[in-house]
This record gives sequence, C-alpha cells and structure tokens, in this order.
Amino acid sequence: MQTRHIGDVAVSAIGLGGMPMSVEGRPDETRSIATIHAALDAGVTLIDTADAYHIDASDVGHNENLIAKALASYAGDTSDVLVATKGGHTRPGDGSWDLDGSPDYLKQACDASLKRLGVEAIGLYQFHRPDPKVDYADSIGALRDLLDAGKIRLAGISNASPEQIRLSNEILGGRLAGVQNQFSPAYRGSEPELVLCDELGIAFLPWSPLGGIAKAGDLGSKFAPFAEIGRRHGVSPQQVCISWLLAKSPVVIPIPGSSRQETIRDSAAAVHLTLTDDELSTLDAG
Ligand SMILES: NC(=O)c1ccc[n+]([C@@H]2O[C@H](COP(=O)([O-])OP(=O)(O)OC[C@H]3O[C@@H](n4cnc5c(N)ncnc54)[C@H](OP(=O)(O)O)[C@@H]3O)[C@@H](O)[C@H]2O)c1
Repeated sequence: MQTRHIGDVAVSAIGLGGMPMSVEGRPDETRSIATIHAALDAGVTLIDTADAYHIDASDVGHNENLIAKALASYAGDTSDVLVATKGGHTRPGDGSWDLDGSPDYLKQACDASLKRLGVEAIGLYQFHRPDPKVDYADSIGALRDLLDAGKIRLAGISNASPEQIRLSNEILGGRLAGVQNQFSPAYRGSEPELVLCDELGIAFLPWSPLGGIAKAGDLGSKFAPFAEIGRRHGVSPQQVCISWLLAKSPVVIPIPGSSRQETIRDSAAAVHLTLTDDELSTLDAG
C-alpha cells in the first residue's frame, strides 16, 4: 500500500471510515470486525472514527470500542495503525446530532476516547464540527492544550472553512495536521479547503467520498463518467472515484466507509489504478 502523511506520520493512502459499522443500519459485531481485519490485511493503516458514531446515548463510543476490539484481536502487527477520532458532536438518542465545542467538554471527551481506544495518546484527534455557541478559537485552544499535554499525537479539524483552517493552524503554532471535509462527485464544495491544504501541506481527508452510506452504491448510475471509465479499466465506479480523489493532490487521503470486507478490499485496491489526464479531466467535469 502506498503511503501519505498526516503531520510526520506515514499512513496508507486510503483509510477506512468506521461510521457505517456503528450508526443506524449497522451490521453485527462479527461482520464489522471481519471488515476491519480485511482493511488491515489490505494494508490500510488509517482508521477514521468518532465518539459520536453510535445510535443512542447508551452506546456512546460504539465505533471506538469496536475498533479497539478489532485491533486487539488482529493476528498481525498493528503498531503502525493510526486511529483518527473526533470530539465535539453528541447524539442525544433520538437520531439527531448535537454540538458541544466547549473546551471543558472537548477535554472530557478526549479522556473518554483515550480510555475506549486503550491508548496513552490518540493518533489524530479532530474537532468534529464548529459549534456556533462557542468561540472557534476557544475550541481549537482545547486541541492545543491536548497536544501540549501529550494526550493527542496529532491535531485535526473537520467541517472547517479556509478561515478556520488558517486560524487553527495559527493557534496550534503551525501544528494543524489534518482537515476532514466532505468531498465527493456529488459534493465538490470543499475545493477551496482542499486547495489550501495542498498549499499548506496539511492532510485533507475527504469524508463521504463515495456520496455517503445510503448513496455510495448508486455512484455509477448517478455519475456516468465514473461508470464508463470503470468499465474501461475493469474496476468499479467507486474505485475510479477514490483514484480520482487521490490524484487531486498528494495531501488527499480518502476514508471510504465500509461495513463489508468486499467493499473495503475494492476501495483499497484503488491505489493500483492510474487514470490518465484526459480521464481525470472528464471526471472533474462530470
Ligand atoms: N467529519 C464528518 O463530519 C464526517 C461525516 C460523515 C462521515 N465521516 C467519515 O467519513 C467516512 C466515509 O463517509 P461515509 O461512510 O459517510 O460515506 P462513503 O464513504 O461515501 O460511503 C460509505 C458506503 O460506501 C460503500 N462502499 C465503500 N466502498 C465501496 C466500493 N468499493 N464499492 C461499493 N460500495 C462501497 C459502503 O458499503 P457497505 O456498508 O455495504 O460496505 C459504505 O456503507 C465515514 O465512515 C466517517 O469515518 C465524517
């Protein structure tokens, strides 16, 4: 597996998104653990999660617990696996998503994630989403304190604007390691953030890169060029999509979600697919 960098840490160029294994419609634990093991077998060394990937308030951290269990039960070496988690979103239990970006809450949430993941320092800790009730600089100040205290190895932000990226990097003293924003054939609105990350050398992790859990299967029917180019290469439209994202910049590290061994194997194989400049232009246009 090719590698890319988040800060000074080399990770697989394609990560595994953990969300489909813990939110509504999730599979049973045996299938999820087999999916995570299949990702590791394929050379994936980046797993993205969040404390809020669960269904109701009684199972906060479901996805973090699952990942910790899968890593502990894996037969191979997992010392180079970076688990990227997030804090700042809460789920009260009625299906909705709430926000708490207050420094006290973020520090508490980080301590709880450390416990669930069973590590001394979190690989990459990302502020999940700006909370309009809290000054953004105060939320990022909490990340800086966590970095300085050694509780997190790398700091990242998510759902951020270019201004928030610049401000965060300043508050963190140039140590902003990752930005996770939505980017897919269906949603290209984070192009300015991607371009800025490329300029600053900050990893850009596109979330819902295939269009999201409910829509990923329809990518080829909704975006014909991805299906056509896939047919030409004998691969799935989803693999074409991940290869297209990788080609956008060396800072891009897609994190396709998966809840089946087949899908993560197929996505991880996108590192072997090289698209021509003409094909990339066609995909950019459609
Ligand atoms: N920061 C944020 O605010 C935020 C928001 C949303 C998501 N995320 C992160 O981003 C990750 C990815 O986003 P996502 O899971 O929402 O959406 P996604 O990656 O666009 O789509 C996930 C779905 O794609 C299917 N899939 C994956 N590879 C495939 C392939 N090669 N062929 C066909 N289908 C394939 C999977 O199906 P199966 O389930 O059948 O395997 C999965 O359910 C999440 O898991 C999460 O870690 C972050």
